[in-house]
Amino acid sequence: MKIQPFKLERYYTLHEFTAKYSICNSDCESMTIKEVLDLEEGASERFHNQWLGYTETAGHPELRRDIANIYTEITPNDLLVFTGAQEPIYLFAHANLEAQDEVIVQTPCYQSLWSVPESLGCKVLPWEVRYEGNEPIFDIEDLKKMLTPRTKAILLNTPHNPTGFHFSKAAQAAIIDLARAANIIIFADEVYRELEHHPDYTLPAFADMYENAVSLGVMSKSYGLPGLRIGWIATRNKNILENVAIMKEYTTICNAAPSEFLAGIALRNRKHILARNLQIVKNNLPLYDDFFNKYADLFSWYKPNAGPIAFAKMRFDTDDMSFAQRALKEKKVLILPGEIYDYKGGFRIGFGRKAIPKALAKFEEFVVENLVGV
Ligand SMILES: Cc1ncc(COP(=O)(O)O)c(C=O)c1O
Repeated sequence: MKIQPFKLERYYTLHEFTAKYSICNSDCESMTIKEVLDLEEGASERFHNQWLGYTETAGHPELRRDIANIYTEITPNDLLVFTGAQEPIYLFAHANLEAQDEVIVQTPCYQSLWSVPESLGCKVLPWEVRYEGNEPIFDIEDLKKMLTPRTKAILLNTPHNPTGFHFSKAAQAAIIDLARAANIIIFADEVYRELEHHPDYTLPAFADMYENAVSLGVMSKSYGLPGLRIGWIATRNKNILENVAIMKEYTTICNAAPSEFLAGIALRNRKHILARNLQIVKNNLPLYDDFFNKYADLFSWYKPNAGPIAFAKMRFDTDDMSFAQRALKEKKVLILPGEIYDYKGGFRIGFGRKAIPKALAKFEEFVVENLVGV
């Protein structure tokens, strides 16, 4: 089956660089090359002497060493580095899934997790979110009922785009028990990892906890460096890793040398970058709290315990796409309508950027002019 257009990425392609304000980005505040180089003594000089030949297909050994430091069980040889996180989602599916395989995906989801297996002819089954009050839940009992002898993989995303849901350690252990008992692969999209709002919510990487798990990481989100286009997969399953490595030789072959260099510096200083980004998140969250309290008759939201995004539901009867388009037209504010996730009735918001106070104030103007007292 032909792959479906990626609704979210289409929407961003159309509007990301023309909207004046945005309250929906999922990446944290970025940095300049100079700011990254300034993190390490002598880095500027070394960057200027960076050789621009081909790089190692698996990723530079030093970069893989820096990435391995994020994990407890993963070694540099358990890693493959890619162009962002999108490439490894595509390649993991192409290299390890076949038509008729059953694949379970947390739903709603970042669309490639669903559409790439679907395009390969897999039977894709939604593990659907439920709400208890304002809180999104992915019920393990629901997952259990979906497993069959044909289940090949469970595709997870935690912290979750778009709901902001994050698994507890107990839920993670329960999912791994189910997968291990039936030799099912877990593909865990952990691109929002390490931005837990309190250390209690830190979840071990799935690849550290389960030998048939693949953890997906990237520089784009918690570290705020999407322009580097550096992502990776981590797995102790050599077969999965080798399958993907062979596939990568048909796409990007190897990574951009300057990006690998800069990603290494950022990762060696990741605690510093994460503390800065978490502070931005913590400055912005109370503003959203105030906003949603003030307009509680119009919206509800779940305030997440990890990551830079959440989902707000609308309590009035309007199509979310036209609501978003009106906000864009009237106030030049970008919100991400639920429709692009096939999940109507709300919109995704983000809180990892410094410009949120200004953008939220603009959105409030739109709400007051269009909804309050109408
Ligand atoms: C859950 C999830 N996975 C993967 C990606 C892709 O990341 P990148 O743009 O760095 O390739 C995104 C980007 O929004 C995402 O939200």
